[in-house]
Amino acid sequence: MKVKGYILDLDGVICDTARFHFQAWSRLALEYGITLNDEDHEKLKGVDREGSLRYILNKAHISPEADLLLRDMERKNAWYLDMVAQMSPADLFPGTLDFLRQAKENDMRIALGSASRNAGLVLKKLNIEPWFDAVVDGNIVENGKPHPETFQKAATLLHLKPEECIVFEDAPSGIQAALAAGCIAIGIGNPDSLKGARVVLPSLASFVPRH
Ligand code: BG6
Ligand code: MG
Repeated sequence: MKVKGYILDLDGVICDTARFHFQAWSRLALEYGITLNDEDHEKLKGVDREGSLRYILNKAHISPEADLLLRDMERKNAWYLDMVAQMSPADLFPGTLDFLRQAKENDMRIALGSASRNAGLVLKKLNIEPWFDAVVDGNIVENGKPHPETFQKAATLLHLKPEECIVFEDAPSGIQAALAAGCIAIGIGNPDSLKGARVVLPSLASFVPRH
């Protein structure tokens, strides 16, 4: 089937905000006496805010009471937003604008498919909102990745079938979600952790369309 659309994850695909999320979660985890490692980082990528906090509390053997969840999600988000406040278009990963330009020249429809409730803000900081025909983020999705909802919604908003869309993802949970939705999955980052992806590239800049 002909590829007609691209669905891009945000954090770790378009810009380095995966690092900001990890720094903020690491700061919180340290308060509970635990140090997050590289394996935790991989596992947390793509996981929504509450799911990430539950992972950390579980690792610290702390019971996830509702008020604690709310308080810590808010604290982590405030630290994350402090980092996002410093962002500008210079924080786009190199080659992202060329990727978007080339996609449009090839008549591709483009959607964002992110778990983040801050995705709209980050797109604004990067000044790339106008490139997207649809934005699916953590505010409009009920089931986070690896559930397929994010990418199913994105394909629907692009008026495409999932199999007509390529998803670009840096997270194992995101690759699973893309495959479960019926999309083609391209990994961005580490081939060892992105099993199931059709191919794993170092960045969007290395993508050469063959469709
Ligand atoms: C994903 C990130 O894109 O968004 C996760 O990979 C993050 O690390 C998730 O937890 C939710 O983000 P936010 O901004 O809603 O807390
Ligand atoms: Mg990501």
